[in-house]
Amino acid sequence: MDAIQAIHNRQGVLAYRPDPVPRELVEIVLRAGCAAPSPANTQPWEWIAVNDPELVPVLAGRLIHTQEVGVFGTLLDTPSEFTQNLMALYQDLDQAPWWIVLSRHRRAQLAPPELSSLIRDWELCALGAALGSLMTAAASLGLGTRWFGNPMLDPEPIKELLNIPEELEIIAASPLGYHQQPGKERPEQSLETHHGFSRGDKPALAALLQGRLPWEAVTHFNTYRQS
Ligand SMILES: Cc1cc2nc3c(=O)[nH]c(=O)nc-3n(C[C@H](O)[C@H](O)[C@H](O)COP(=O)(O)O)c2cc1C
Repeated sequence: MDAIQAIHNRQGVLAYRPDPVPRELVEIVLRAGCAAPSPANTQPWEWIAVNDPELVPVLAGRLIHTQEVGVFGTLLDTPSEFTQNLMALYQDLDQAPWWIVLSRHRRAQLAPPELSSLIRDWELCALGAALGSLMTAAASLGLGTRWFGNPMLDPEPIKELLNIPEELEIIAASPLGYHQQPGKERPEQSLETHHGFSRGDKPALAALLQGRLPWEAVTHFNTYRQS
């Protein structure tokens, strides 16, 4: 599969089969993650690939809990009847044989402390690029992933579980495994959905979650075109 195909095939997978994924494949995707660009080549990533049968269910359980309580309950303030339906989508997440946990490591102090927030932003950009590369590589091998930012809401239990040192900052976690229903395409949305979305507008938010924005609506040539 070429890179363009893998980029378009990637989707956030929640339902996994328990089939094992050989460590060689996991090493290939980790190396793809490490190939990303970073500010002054600081490479601010630290990866933990977890497949210990004692750790995986605890880690998955932690993420599922934070999804329900932290993301749907607090962040998105989702009505409880919706939360129940949404959480049903996460019921086979704990089947994934591997988890990849990505932390930010402040390897080098690039700039004076007063610029540390800019440096953190740059490092987060690099970590996004790194996890994106890992996910594309996984897709090219027929493996599913999903970006979970929710560990940032409640990092301490995960740090304790995986023995992650204090100075590291957990940024994301992703399951890695074979999906139950591969290859379901999500169509681009209509431009009306794109223009209709505003904060607090829950029906429009639900529509937004259903598919890609039309690429022409969010890309510009030469100068910004007001829609
Ligand atoms: C920074 C970031 C944080 C995310 N956090 C979560 C999360 O905590 N829980 C979750 O279920 N999905 C999370 N996602 C996945 C998105 O919901 C998903 O990527 C998006 O709906 C687009 O779907 P796709 O990945 O299938 O293209 C996150 C994605 C990103 C980039």
